[in-house]
Amino acid sequence: MIDIHCHMLPGIDDGPGTMDDAVAMARIAVDDGIDGAICTPHWHPMIWPNDRAEIVHAVARFQTRLLHEGVAFRVWAGSELSMDASLDAGLDGGLLQTLNGGPWVLLELPGYAPPPGIEDHLQSLRRRGYHVVLAHPERYDYVRRDPARLYDWVSMGVAVQITASSVLGRLGPEMAALCRRLLEHRLVHFLASDSHGVRSRRPLLRQAVDVTGDVLGEREARRLVDDHPLSLLRGEPLDLREYAAIAPLRRKRSWFRFLLERE
Ligand SMILES: [Fe+2]
Repeated sequence: MIDIHCHMLPGIDDGPGTMDDAVAMARIAVDDGIDGAICTPHWHPMIWPNDRAEIVHAVARFQTRLLHEGVAFRVWAGSELSMDASLDAGLDGGLLQTLNGGPWVLLELPGYAPPPGIEDHLQSLRRRGYHVVLAHPERYDYVRRDPARLYDWVSMGVAVQITASSVLGRLGPEMAALCRRLLEHRLVHFLASDSHGVRSRRPLLRQAVDVTGDVLGEREARRLVDDHPLSLLRGEPLDLREYAAIAPLRRKRSWFRFLLERE
């Protein structure tokens, strides 16, 4: 398994404070059956101004330490990018870190309201050659109110990552139920830990993969942590058509009706 979203680099964002804790996180991941992770420290120009050079350097330092400690865990450079006016210039100018330096970017939207013009922005990223994976939309208020919004984004070619702890109900039963519905509607392409430490928000995937397997079947669940992350690491696009094709069939019932019928 490969974790495409985690905060494992020490002292660079709200992840582990020390290298020892970062190594301990990697050991937890290995014990869970995770082979490697794309380290995705936050980027926000005012709060976490982690640029590409800094992240690449931190990943190299971390990998060296893991080798030294005998921890068989591979790490790659990435970043969780916040929406900001300077995002496009940062990406196009090569200042910001994409996932493994390829065309994929991990994008986090504000949780309370979608940024104005978000659809245009997503399309503009696509036109400029980027593939967007949206970080944990199950946590966004407006997606919870209107999950069908994700249909449109997936149809536009946006891939969706949900978080293992959300699937397991650690963030409440409502979020777990939403994750299940997104999975049922084939609107999820990646399952990741979004881990931040050794005590809470730990780098674990196995249990969430099992729960996902109950919904999708084991083979499909493994694609979210094996095949799709490998494609992403290679910089290959994902074929999202099979997912988007299912959505309109279901949408005719309307989400509101669907939710009422389910509960
Ligand atoms: Fe994150």
